[in-house]
Amino acid sequence: MKISNVRKIIKEGGLKGLKIAILEKLLIKLKKKKEFIDISDTYINWLAFANAGMLNRGNLFCIDFSIKNLPKDSVIVEVGSFCGLSTNIITYYKRKHSVKTPFFTCDRWEFEGAEKGGRISDSSITYEEYRDFVMKTFERNVKTFSEDDMPHTIEMFSDEFFEAWGKSKECVDFFGKRVRLGGEIGFCFIDGNHTYDYARRDFENTDRFLAKGGYILFDDSSDDSDWEVCKVVEEVLRGAKYELVVKNPNYLLKKK
Ligand SMILES: C[S@@+](CC[C@H](N)C(=O)[O-])C[C@H]1O[C@@H](n2cnc3c(N)ncnc32)[C@H](O)[C@@H]1O
Repeated sequence: MKISNVRKIIKEGGLKGLKIAILEKLLIKLKKKKEFIDISDTYINWLAFANAGMLNRGNLFCIDFSIKNLPKDSVIVEVGSFCGLSTNIITYYKRKHSVKTPFFTCDRWEFEGAEKGGRISDSSITYEEYRDFVMKTFERNVKTFSEDDMPHTIEMFSDEFFEAWGKSKECVDFFGKRVRLGGEIGFCFIDGNHTYDYARRDFENTDRFLAKGGYILFDDSSDDSDWEVCKVVEEVLRGAKYELVVKNPNYLLKKK
């Protein structure tokens, strides 16, 4: 900022005006540089090199925050695990904050757009082979990076998962461990089917079991996202039950 400009600002708006002008300049700089807080560290960088997935690095801050502030005696749920990147990230922050609460993930690995079967485009691989590859990759990734704190992965669509959750069903998880579903959820990462009906149901189902003060992170919900999940977030925020914790750039909400 030029001295002549500083003088002009002080003349017109006093010291308060100068402070506002400096803050505005800083904000513009920050906006140009990066639009969200990124807490990637060495581990996350190495993990993300090797573990395929769809990571928006702003999610790291939201996941870290939610786990650090998890309501007492509540558990963690993830909808949509794919190759296990977010799963391994969640176990990393659990470890970092010495959070011992159980962690449940659900996925059927039935991908949108793969229903027609056959080969993927002009390749030699079929959708079935692709699915098998992703599931094996998930298993290897999670066994490698979360060996000390394995999640309970339930091979179900989220609708089935939450139904079983409500009935406190006992089941065998993806890794062969017997586990009883149910209880209060303290943090849910919603990253399954992003179309309106599914995302809305994932929210409603989570809401049924979410503890007071619990968190929901909606993937792909940023203001520049085209996914219908954004409409769900808008609706939720219009109600009185949830407040915005942060938009980084995806929405992290807290139940009041
Ligand atoms: C965007 S990927 C998840 C990416 C993952 N969270 C990561 O960080 O890499 C979406 C996943 O959601 C799963 N999925 C789609 N519809 C689902 C549903 N109704 N219930 C549970 N999972 C679903 C898909 O099989 C896919 O693995």
